[in-house]
Amino acid sequence: MSKLVAGNWKMFGNKDMIYDIKKIDRHCNDTKCEVAICPPFQLISAANEQTKNIKIGAQNCHINTNGAHTGEVSAEMLTEVGAELIIVGHSERRQDNSETNDIVKLKTEAVHRAGATAIVCIGETLEERTAEQTLSVLQEQMLKSLPKKVTPVNTVVAYEPVWAIGTGLVPAADQIRAAHSFIRGFLASTYGAEAHDVKILYGGSVKDTNAKEIFSISNVNGALVGGASLKSTDFIEIIKAASNSM
Ligand code: 13P
Repeated sequence: MSKLVAGNWKMFGNKDMIYDIKKIDRHCNDTKCEVAICPPFQLISAANEQTKNIKIGAQNCHINTNGAHTGEVSAEMLTEVGAELIIVGHSERRQDNSETNDIVKLKTEAVHRAGATAIVCIGETLEERTAEQTLSVLQEQMLKSLPKKVTPVNTVVAYEPVWAIGTGLVPAADQIRAAHSFIRGFLASTYGAEAHDVKILYGGSVKDTNAKEIFSISNVNGALVGGASLKSTDFIEIIKAASNSM
């Protein structure tokens, strides 16, 4: 299956950075992998208007379509301005905004309702890994945050070990392989053949220097990139590594 390289800009980025998005889009004229950038909300519309080769996404949405929820944005509002993917359940939101698996599931359903693709993030903390609970944590997160209907079109799963995010620490290849193979097995046993092509991204300190090795690991179908997606030259190198690995 084709790989997906998605950039999560988090709370970084201003109007000037549309220039970087255009540069990445130009590079992706003939890339073999799929590419997406999820900038902060205020850039989504302009980013969408300025791109033709890459997809634009969002980093969060509300569970409802509309209502008296000051400061919130719905999945439908995001798709209206061009978001084709929406990240849900990122560990920063699970931590900073007390988002539970139940909330993540409702958000995933909201993304599906709006016709976009949900990038559902799961991953263990360092304490959980040390206590050898990684696979049980992943299982619980998938059981509770994924809805009844999951297809390769409506859902991407992102495995992001919390301890690897923004730290420069990357799990050993065997650890990534084990987690991704476990996730693949869970999807197959829960959703059957239809889930066979659901992409499983790795996220956490992906850089231009380690992307090639990460993309060579079985069941790694792409990456969710934070810090390195803010530097267009680095992000383009990661895109090249993904294309070359296919
Ligand atoms: P970094 O690539 O900065 O570690 O962030 C990963 C991440 O959180 C992507 O969602």
